[in-house]
Amino acid sequence: MGKLEGKVALITGAGSGIGRASALLFAKEGAKVVVADFVPQGGHETVKIIKEAGGEALFVEVNVSKSPEVQRMIQSVLDAYGRLDIVFNNAGIQGKFIMTADLSEEAWNSIIATNLTGAFLGSKYAIQAMLKQGGGVIINTASTAGLIGLPGMPAYSASKAGIIQLTKVMALEYADKNIRVNCICPGGIVTPLSRITADPATLKPEDFPPYRHVKAMPRFGDPEEVARTALYLASDDSSFVTGTVAVVDGGMSAGVAKMPPKKQG
Ligand SMILES: NC(=O)c1ccc[n+]([C@@H]2O[C@H](COP(=O)([O-])OP(=O)(O)OC[C@H]3O[C@@H](n4cnc5c(N)ncnc54)[C@H](O)[C@@H]3O)[C@@H](O)[C@H]2O)c1
Repeated sequence: MGKLEGKVALITGAGSGIGRASALLFAKEGAKVVVADFVPQGGHETVKIIKEAGGEALFVEVNVSKSPEVQRMIQSVLDAYGRLDIVFNNAGIQGKFIMTADLSEEAWNSIIATNLTGAFLGSKYAIQAMLKQGGGVIINTASTAGLIGLPGMPAYSASKAGIIQLTKVMALEYADKNIRVNCICPGGIVTPLSRITADPATLKPEDFPPYRHVKAMPRFGDPEEVARTALYLASDDSSFVTGTVAVVDGGMSAGVAKMPPKKQG
């Protein structure tokens, strides 16, 4: 029996990367998966892969930054399956590397709206449904950028730090209502968003971005490695875990970027 047998899971940004890997894993573990994304092609492709493997899934088109669309998305899940056990607010955008003084307000607002407001709206309307049915699980995708400062990513970092705090607040607010809320901080995962395309097997230390700790794992991560953490947080394996920040970054955010110079003699 799968770890999510009989559960209904909604995953945003499931048309690509971490969201798709999680959708495939959740379906393999027995969940009925609602694949939500604002790019229909990727979303339909994820559904197709799940169905070909014998799982159950459907696609819902959504822009997670728009309240009416998020409400419609939650209602679509309830209409299709009658309940909503797991919501993985994972959709996100990174934007270009631009220093704060040069970042337009438009770019700032767009990143905050998708990443932070998207997680808020997805949680708000999911919690309303979960309160009626007596419980549920929420997982939000934050980032190592929400834990350490990454120059050139002010809006992205602020949005992800905001998601971490939002997660903690919601975990406390609904701990006595059988709703667990946790977040994941991925870092250096090979997806279109991270623009990491090099073959991890051939990478040398100098290929890593300057913020990478030189002693961190000398490779990038696979979306499946984040999906396995999401599965842990979605399943009863984490039944006493709420308000936590699960870091999945090969050690990238664990310390300083450079080793101290060696002593002479
Ligand atoms: N890849 C990494 O190294 C990394 C590191 C830290 C955090 N993350 C986070 O992981 C999450 C998933 O990213 P990924 O790396 O899999 O990237 P990805 O680009 O492969 O997937 C993101 C998905 O989100 C969808 N999306 C974007 N804006 C949307 C919106 N407004 N409404 C609905 N869907 C939308 C995209 O269409 C895409 O399918 C993001 O929140 C990202 O910030 C990724």
